[in-house]
Amino acid sequence: MEKLEEILNQGLSAFEAIENPADLDQVKSRFIGKNGALTELLKGLGKLSAEERPAAGARINEVKDKLEQALAARRESLREQQLQAQLAKESLDVTLQGRGAGRGGMHPVTRTLERIEALFHSIGFEIAQGPEIETDFYNFTALNIPDNHPARAMHDTFYVDAQHVLRTHTSPVQVRYMQNNPPPLKIIAPGRVYRCDSDVTHTPMFHQVEGLWVDENVSFAELKGILTDFMQQFFERDNLRTRFRPSFFPFTEPSAEMDIGCVICGGDGCRVCSGTGWLEVLGCGMVHPNVLGHVDIDSEKYIGFAFGLGVERLAMLRYGVNDLRLFFENDLKFLKQFN
Ligand code: FA5
Ligand code: MG
Repeated sequence: MEKLEEILNQGLSAFEAIENPADLDQVKSRFIGKNGALTELLKGLGKLSAEERPAAGARINEVKDKLEQALAARRESLREQQLQAQLAKESLDVTLQGRGAGRGGMHPVTRTLERIEALFHSIGFEIAQGPEIETDFYNFTALNIPDNHPARAMHDTFYVDAQHVLRTHTSPVQVRYMQNNPPPLKIIAPGRVYRCDSDVTHTPMFHQVEGLWVDENVSFAELKGILTDFMQQFFERDNLRTRFRPSFFPFTEPSAEMDIGCVICGGDGCRVCSGTGWLEVLGCGMVHPNVLGHVDIDSEKYIGFAFGLGVERLAMLRYGVNDLRLFFENDLKFLKQFN
C-alpha cells in the first residue's frame, strides 16, 4: 500500500511534467500500461490473504482511475496549449484595411477616339468600318498604288500572306464604302492600323480616323476649314497653332499634311517634335480621280476630299504625354491618371 501511494505521486508528477503530447503514451505505459508499475502491483495481489485482497484491489483501482483522469486532463491541457499556440501564430488582423476593388477608367486612346467621333458626328459625318486584315488590292492597288510602286515601301507593311496585309492605314475603308454607297457621302472610319515602326512618336499598332466627303462641290478650302475648326475644338483652344504642308499621297491630289504646334515644348523644339516645334497629326488631300474610277464614281461630276489622322498623336498632344509607346504598356500608374 505504501508502494501504491508512491506510484500515485510519481505518476501525477510525471504526467504534469510532460510538455510534448507525443510523450503522453510512453509515460502512460510506464504507470498504467500492460507492463506498468500498477499492473505489477495487481499481479502481487495473489500474495495477500483473502480478507485483505478486496480492499487492496479496490484501492489499486482507485489509484488507476486517478492516474487515468490526471492523464486525460494533461492530454486535454496540452491539446488546448497547442491550439492556442497555433491560433496565435496564424492570427489575422481583421481590423486591417482591405485593398479595395478600385474603379477602372477608359483608356486615353479610347477617350480620344470617342471625342473625335463626337466632334465629326456633330457636323454630319457617319461612321464606317473595315477589316484590319486587308487585301493588297484595297490597301494599295485601289488607292492608286500599283504593284512595284515605290510608295508601297513607305508603309513598312506587315504581310499576312502574298495577298493579305495588316492594313497600314484606314484609307482602304474609303474604297470599300464607295463601292457600296453612291455619293453624296460623308464618313469617318476609325480603327487600328499596323506598321513595322517604333520610336517616341511611332508604335507598330496605332489608330487612325479616316475622313471622306464626296459631293458635287467640295473644295480644298473646306477641307482646311473643317480640319482647322476640328483641331481648335478638339484642343479647346482658339489660338492653336496649325499649318498645312504640301505633301504627296498617291490617292490624293493635291495632298497636304497638317501639323500642330508642339504642346510639349510650346514650339521651342524637343525630342517629341524632333526639334522642329511642330508635330504631324494627319495627311489629307482631294481624292485622286483614279481612286474614284476604281469604284465607278464619275470624277467629272463628283469631287471629294479625304484625310487620315493619327489618334495617338492627338492624345499625346492633348494630355502632354511625351512618349507614344506609354499608351500601350498598360502601366496602371500611367493609365490611372486618365480616370
Ligand atoms: C496615311 O496613312 C494616309 N492614309 C493619310 C491620308 C488619308 C492622306 C486620306 C490623304 C487622304 P501617314 O502615313 O502620314 O498617312 O499617316 C497618317 C497619320 O498617322 C500621321 O500623320 C501620324 O499622325 C499617324 N502615324 C503614322 N505612323 C504612325 C505610327 N507608327 N504610330 C503612331 N501614329 C502614326
Ligand atoms: Mg505622314
